[in-house]
Amino acid sequence: MALNKQPYRGTRDFFPKDKRVRDYLFSIMTKTAESFGYESYDGPLLEEVELYKAKSGEELINEQIYSFTDRGERFVAIRPEMTPTLARMVAQVHRESSKPLRWFSIPNLMRYEKPQRGRVREHWQLNCDVFGAPGRMGEVEILQMAVELFQNYGANQSHFEILLNDRAIVDTVFITLMESTPEQSHRLYKIVDKAKKVNEEAIVKMVKEVGLNSKAEELFYSYLKLKTFDDVQSYLTKHNQLESASQFGLFVEQIQKLGLSDFITYDPTIVRGLDYYTGIVFEIFDKHPDNRRALCGGGAYANLLQIFNEDPLPGVGFGLGDVTLKDFLEVHKLLPNLDNPTNDIFITFQEDDGLDASMKLAHSLRKENLKVVTSLEAIKFKKVFPTADKKGVRFVTLMGSEELSKNQIQLKNLATKEQHTLDLNDLQTLIKIIKA
Ligand code: HAM
Repeated sequence: MALNKQPYRGTRDFFPKDKRVRDYLFSIMTKTAESFGYESYDGPLLEEVELYKAKSGEELINEQIYSFTDRGERFVAIRPEMTPTLARMVAQVHRESSKPLRWFSIPNLMRYEKPQRGRVREHWQLNCDVFGAPGRMGEVEILQMAVELFQNYGANQSHFEILLNDRAIVDTVFITLMESTPEQSHRLYKIVDKAKKVNEEAIVKMVKEVGLNSKAEELFYSYLKLKTFDDVQSYLTKHNQLESASQFGLFVEQIQKLGLSDFITYDPTIVRGLDYYTGIVFEIFDKHPDNRRALCGGGAYANLLQIFNEDPLPGVGFGLGDVTLKDFLEVHKLLPNLDNPTNDIFITFQEDDGLDASMKLAHSLRKENLKVVTSLEAIKFKKVFPTADKKGVRFVTLMGSEELSKNQIQLKNLATKEQHTLDLNDLQTLIKIIKA
């Protein structure tokens, strides 16, 4: 029986034209992260399942993780997210590292999910995280970088929005004000997370099942109605949570000063499914009606290092997936045309005897950092230009019998159609024209 040529369900083959798109996405990610002084890191594909059990959350562990027992009886998983690996690595070095520690990575991750638009089983995810930043400045910087990243792809406010909440506020409401038990609070988190996907009736039913008193229910419903940063401040102040209001106020003031608040909307239903977040939580959404998906998710986590018995070190970061990002750039027509590769020059010869001179020429031009494609055999004049188009070159050289006898080539600029007859002993002129 013949084997299946298709990749495993939910994974992708990256043919050169797909890989060009991925390379483009990654290049902007790297450029942006480095422009903020973030250093590149990477970790292993496999981790002990325990690492995720500690803090990643039920959905990831129970439904999405790819796990198996290795030959040494260790229970391991293919990384479904990067944050636990990052925390494990930071736990090893944070004491001797100067703060803030700023790292980024673009790992491939695997989650057992139902493949659909924007969801696959293997995706690549830009992770940018900062540890040990003073006050709320880590959160501010991470949001600033996320916005600049999208701007570097040519996107603006009309294309995307950041929906943001703060788990410290959610806890203040659920625990301090509503006096709910840890178990009730856990259930309320789940309800809030679902709030936008179900109707009001379903919410009322779920809330009833939590068994809150009427005052707590009222507080919960009024919390769900908060829409702006001012609403949050008034709510907290009205209910005498002055410390919480002032903490959040400091953060809001900073993002307003930097103009970030134009991109950010307060949303009480954003809590995120991962257990480790303790501070701000946010998701970046596409505003296009055909692509209403989270492009990016992140937040602040104060206690992740404690699972390694280390002192707490506040961290904050985000993950941005390649699949949703590509869909986003496509629907907004922000993806450049990457149908063809890009090369500088296509070296051809029309007589068999031209091989040696052509190969030598190609070698010299590569030493000048040019991207050089050779025909490797004599090709007919009429085949030269269609092939050159597919190779995405700017220049073509031709060498027929006349040029060969004079040790010359014809150099043609495909855009301007300009043609030069050049001596092969005078490489400098050739290079000057190509690099001009
Ligand atoms: P996450 O929300 O699970 O966060 O994933 C972040 C982003 O990765 C999503 O918004 C989405 O674009 C992409 N993504 C996730 N799962 C899939 C999938 N199955 N198919 C395609 N794209 C997907 C985290 O993973 C956190 N660890 C991010 C983080 C870093 N928080 C702090 N630092």
